[in-house]
Amino acid sequence: MKILALSFSPREEGNTELLLERVLAGAGIRGAETELVRVADKNIKPCDACGACFRTGECLIRDDMQELGQKMLQADGIIFGSPVYFYNITAQGKIVIDRSIALSHQGKGLANKVGGVVVVGGSLGLVDAVKDLYFYIVIHQMIPANFVAAYGSNKGDVKRLQKCLKAAEELGIQAVKIAEKKFCYPEDIRAQHIGFGTHTW
Ligand SMILES: Cc1cc2nc3c(=O)[nH]c(=O)nc-3n(C[C@H](O)[C@H](O)[C@H](O)COP(=O)(O)O)c2cc1C
Repeated sequence: MKILALSFSPREEGNTELLLERVLAGAGIRGAETELVRVADKNIKPCDACGACFRTGECLIRDDMQELGQKMLQADGIIFGSPVYFYNITAQGKIVIDRSIALSHQGKGLANKVGGVVVVGGSLGLVDAVKDLYFYIVIHQMIPANFVAAYGSNKGDVKRLQKCLKAAEELGIQAVKIAEKKFCYPEDIRAQHIGFGTHTW
């Protein structure tokens, strides 16, 4: 059982990372192997819309996304963590979201993996960030676990939020418990690829 946490914050040991570490501690209590990846440390370029992944299933941009994609495909559960930047997730998060379209062409993609969400913001935008990360989870036919949304501005602010830290730990435990159930989308409704509003064609 592997639970992967992706931090979309550029701030090392910032609030997002602190909460993700707590989530992984919870997952560890339930016996999972855990890993946290700081996406800002990786060289991952934005999608260039070449369309190759739709034709061949392969992304032609050679950078750290290949390694990260493999980690995502190998995980049983993925916790997406982002600070709120301008009322939504960070650029790091958006780049991974766009580039991971290619993963949906590789076997089963992210389908049936558990997805959890952690967001931290100083004032406004938490709900928008949560919503967009859940939308990603749904589109990839992942199984949603809970979310943790915290108020924090300065580095380490979330250390004071005892309920939040507890909720993060519980999210980790919950993610493993859900993954243990091995829920599966029925084969006949599993998307061959992501449909962006299939009503448009
Ligand atoms: C460029 C930038 C934009 C931000 N925009 C928002 C925002 O729109 N809403 C908000 O609530 N907080 C905003 N913040 C504050 C961060 O969400 C907050 O400091 C958060 O704790 C950072 O998380 P981290 O410590 O994991 O990096 C912004 C911070 C930065 C640097």
